[in-house]
Amino acid sequence: MQKIFRMPPTVITGAGSAGHTGSEIKKMGVKKALIITDKVIVEIGALKSIEDSLKENGISYSVFDDIPTEPTVEYVDKGIKAYRNDKCDCLLAIGGGSAIDTAKAISVMLTNEGEISDYMGLDKIKNSGVPLIAVPTTAGTGSEVTIFTIITDTHNDVKMLIGGGLLMPQVAIADPLLTISMPPALTAATGMDALCHAIEAYVSLKANPLSDIFALSAIELLSDFLRAAWANGNNLEAREKVMIASLKAGVAFTNSSVTLVHGMSRPIGANFHVPHGLSNAVLLTTVMEYSLMANPERYAKISETMGFNTYGLNVLEAAKLSVDAVKDLVRDIKIPSMQELGIEESRLIEKAPKMAEAAIKSGSPGNNPRQVTKEDIINLYKAAYSS
Ligand SMILES: [Fe+2]
Repeated sequence: MQKIFRMPPTVITGAGSAGHTGSEIKKMGVKKALIITDKVIVEIGALKSIEDSLKENGISYSVFDDIPTEPTVEYVDKGIKAYRNDKCDCLLAIGGGSAIDTAKAISVMLTNEGEISDYMGLDKIKNSGVPLIAVPTTAGTGSEVTIFTIITDTHNDVKMLIGGGLLMPQVAIADPLLTISMPPALTAATGMDALCHAIEAYVSLKANPLSDIFALSAIELLSDFLRAAWANGNNLEAREKVMIASLKAGVAFTNSSVTLVHGMSRPIGANFHVPHGLSNAVLLTTVMEYSLMANPERYAKISETMGFNTYGLNVLEAAKLSVDAVKDLVRDIKIPSMQELGIEESRLIEKAPKMAEAAIKSGSPGNNPRQVTKEDIINLYKAAYSS
């Protein structure tokens, strides 16, 4: 079966790389960028080096800094208006997943008919969008290198997953200096999102030899450096390794897909308004324990990649160590439990059947190595709550 491997044509990494934004945009032959970002990024001065590089290269720009924590249809429409009013010819997304996801949707809705909700699902977008440069300021979503965007349709309260090669940014610039100001809790949550991407991509039924390289390398980097980045946000080496891990995990899952963890976590986010990274993190070990018997060789490889010695163990014993490795990490970086996140057990049980249906409908659980029914997912929500 044929496999397509996609990543942005240009990826720039390293401390200070954001200072190359202007010269990269100049190479694209465009003249005016609409910067899509949020007010916090503007307030902390994270745009400074990027704005300087735009000016040095003669690129004019205007700023749309109205992005909320959750990208919605309404903000896609506002961004389209700003782009047209300000007569821009490219988009520069600077921020976490919300800014980049919104910019992806704006990019293709400037060149395609109808509403973004018409394109829910995979490969429905027909025309290439306007040029998009993505500069992440968190290390976790990997959105700068993926073909997906998640936009909330506020009319129906649905988190729409929209995917297609035409959503891939033309340039991704991953500068760890932009992540230095992330507080520990955000470092932990976004880092766990990246770990979920990497582990899910590696065990996915759609995993392939190229996605495997990126997935395993991301798991190793996160296992080795996420604690250090969490413990001391100024540790630039750790910040750089975690940012590269996030990027690699993004490349991995955009080419092999996420699985049951992300499938189950989106309904938690929609129903209990838990940040994406945390809704994944509270499910990860429970889902690994459930799934590993379907492909123990892959989980055993994760155990080894996370530094566990599997010599002399049978493959199932070795596979189970991957759960211990992730539990250790979750404990060390103080990921809160569902209870600590304010989710009441009775409400979770009450909502679990609908959440399980939404999880299955997303398609992600279909890529899980061990298959699941609606009943299985309900039981997994309950098990994750008391784990
Ligand atoms: Fe994610």
